Amino acid sequence: MISNTQRLSPKDIPAAAAMLRSGELVAFPTETVYGLGADARNDRAVAGIFAAKSRPQFNPLIVHVANLAAVEEIAEIPSQARSLAAAFWPGPLTLVLPTRADSGLSDLVTAGLDTVAVRIPFNPIAQRLLQEFNGPVAAPSANPSGKISPTTAGHVLDGLSGKIAAVIDGGHCDVGLESTIVGFDNGPVLLRAGGLPVELLNAVLRREIGQNTATSISAPGQLKSHYAPKAMLRLNAEAPEPNEAWLAFGPHSFNAPSLNLSQTRDLTEAAANLFAHLHALDKIAARIAVAPIPTTGLGLAINDRLERAAS
Ligand code: TXA
Ligand code: MG
Repeated sequence: MISNTQRLSPKDIPAAAAMLRSGELVAFPTETVYGLGADARNDRAVAGIFAAKSRPQFNPLIVHVANLAAVEEIAEIPSQARSLAAAFWPGPLTLVLPTRADSGLSDLVTAGLDTVAVRIPFNPIAQRLLQEFNGPVAAPSANPSGKISPTTAGHVLDGLSGKIAAVIDGGHCDVGLESTIVGFDNGPVLLRAGGLPVELLNAVLRREIGQNTATSISAPGQLKSHYAPKAMLRLNAEAPEPNEAWLAFGPHSFNAPSLNLSQTRDLTEAAANLFAHLHALDKIAARIAVAPIPTTGLGLAINDRLERAAS
């Protein structure tokens, strides 16, 4: 048991990498959300992630590395995956790839599957940590299982203080939604809508990406209440009721306590604000009414997270 979680600054990255090497858990910013990192080759360290998050063990984890050469040490990259990797890495995209036999990854990371979810993050702090550590880092979102994903170091400490060694404070996450996850099953399949809009994937693939129908591929957040705040959420609301806080999208003149995902109805800004605003409203209200959000671009992932948070 760790009594004190250290709040580190980016200049402490070498110390953070040393903690990872000694099997400790370190939360770090990525452009999507904060990740709870552990050495992906260390069974005990990876088990610690599940313990800290109180996470059901059947959920496999995303492995983070600094560059394509490091991906190739753990996974095969089919040609369709290569074009997506070339277009979108580093960035908010996770690819589920066949694991190499000599990957050295803990079986806990892949939950016994013969594939591994891999991502090269863009965030400079994540990049420097991965380069300094020089190995694969398993990292789910740095929140207790079932709670809203963290987009600030403060959110991480709210949920995991005392349960992890450290968090590197890198301010707000730019994208604010988890990565888009793509698997390959005779062709690319969308496993989770996320921070990379599906329209951009389709443009590179020159076709509509397949939807996840195969039950054999376990999709993330299949637990419906994956992103649950304590407050009751009412989606696609026209206006707040007297006892509700208002999560706005665009200008409004309601008197309710409110936060605006985007005054200008910008979906990128709304995605970046989503989890932080849910965290904030959850602290002051028992009921939150949410304005309708379009389902194009990042709106697809925003609506997915809102539906899970509401269930
Ligand atoms: O943006 C993100 O993706 C963040 C940051 C920290 O990188 N990470 C994240 O991890 O959201 P997590 O653990 O909350 O979600 C990972 C999801 C899991 O729910 C799991 O279902 C899916 O990725 N996944 C992992 N490995 C898989 C595999 N081999 N096959 C299918 N799905 C997999
Ligand atoms: Mg998560």
